[in-house]
Amino acid sequence: LGQVAASTAASPQWSGRMAFVLAATGSAVGLGNIWKFPYITGEHGGAAFVLVYLACILVIGIPLLMAEVMIGRRGRHNPPHAMAALAGEAGASPRWRWLGWVGVLTGFLLLSFYVVVAGWAVAYIFDTGAGTFNAASGEQVGAHFGALLGSPLTLIFWGSLVLALTLGIVALGVRQGLERAVNLMMPGLFLLLLVLVGYAMTTGHFMQGLEFLFNPDFGKLSGNSVLVALGHAFFTLSLAGGGMMTYGAYLPGKVSIAKTALTIGLLDTLVALLAGMVIFPLVFANGLEPGAGPGLLFVTLPIAFGQMPLGALFGALFFVMLSVAALTSAISLIEPAVAWLTGRYRISRARACLGSGVLMWLLSLGTVFSFNLWEQHTLFGKTFFGGLDYLTSSWIMPLSGLFIALFAGWVMSRTATEQELGRGPGYRLWRFTIRYLSPVFIVLMFLNAIGVFG
Ligand code: PFF
Ligand code: NA
Repeated sequence: LGQVAASTAASPQWSGRMAFVLAATGSAVGLGNIWKFPYITGEHGGAAFVLVYLACILVIGIPLLMAEVMIGRRGRHNPPHAMAALAGEAGASPRWRWLGWVGVLTGFLLLSFYVVVAGWAVAYIFDTGAGTFNAASGEQVGAHFGALLGSPLTLIFWGSLVLALTLGIVALGVRQGLERAVNLMMPGLFLLLLVLVGYAMTTGHFMQGLEFLFNPDFGKLSGNSVLVALGHAFFTLSLAGGGMMTYGAYLPGKVSIAKTALTIGLLDTLVALLAGMVIFPLVFANGLEPGAGPGLLFVTLPIAFGQMPLGALFGALFFVMLSVAALTSAISLIEPAVAWLTGRYRISRARACLGSGVLMWLLSLGTVFSFNLWEQHTLFGKTFFGGLDYLTSSWIMPLSGLFIALFAGWVMSRTATEQELGRGPGYRLWRFTIRYLSPVFIVLMFLNAIGVFG
């Protein structure tokens, strides 16, 4: 309880609904939409996977997004503090604080590989813009990416740049830093995306891209694919990473949580689908494979840009978009830790950024080295990076999501949640979903993944 008493300093607030929507959409829209969604969709065979993913967004993602923003706003503090306070309000054990902790920690773990991949995106702005890939063969592009991954110093350089930018923004504070950054970057992001969709339409393979995304073949779907889709629904909506709870803590009381959560969920899904509509037509137009894995954006796509008119220009724009999307997500991955440090230890944001930044930088070396020095060191067939991604996305996030759903649906009182979300049919639908549907579906998908259904 000492912690509750020690961190009662008032939280900052967004200037209004729009600022929150931009910041939360900025958090949601990131590498998850533009890098991960297309490559896992490619790996898991296309449309059937997309449909499972969309179902997860609807039945689990959006209700849980509402729950997290609600917990943040009612708790008015960093996730551990908010969880403890709301558990107290409900007469439940303060141990629920741990769930807040898991969120902060997950955000921290995610950011440690997020900055490295975001670093690839920044490096590729210059590579692509300089015409490196013009008329390059698949082998040449593959070798270029291999050389990037093979050089720890280069990876550290670009990753540190992204981390420094992230911390710089976060150090400036919620209004001066986060809010100004998203006001500037989010409109640019959407504009770039539309320009690129237009470009993909000129490839002549737009329909084949659509077909791949929307014409399902359920035979290709394994239990593991379903778990990956579930995990991705969490990752893409920034759930269970502390970010949405923390952003919710800064949300003015009058704003409708249901409407904003729906807007954020729709925009995030739209960006993922549009990113697929940019990438797959380009891939097919050049006779390339959609199932290339994490290298889809960094090998397959540059080959495609290299063959196309104005490819260097549009390729560079593509990686600008990816970098911007990554940056607005990265700030939401460190903000929970910074909010906790400033609340708990009464230190300045600048110090909190410095402290968590140093730790983060050290942790990110694990991801950097898993592509070169430690490439051969694997556990269950996964490198440090692969394992971290798998552990966070496929296990920690769905599991802590399960507990957040149980907390919002069963521990918090009906009165408390109704006060935050408002009465009406929408509320009853939310409550039913978060109490029954979301938990049951999460559990079923876990059982399915471990092979219970054969
Ligand atoms: N939603 C981000 C993406 O799709 O790239 C990743 C992310 C951000 C996950 C913040 C979790 C989080 F708390
Ligand atoms: Na996302």
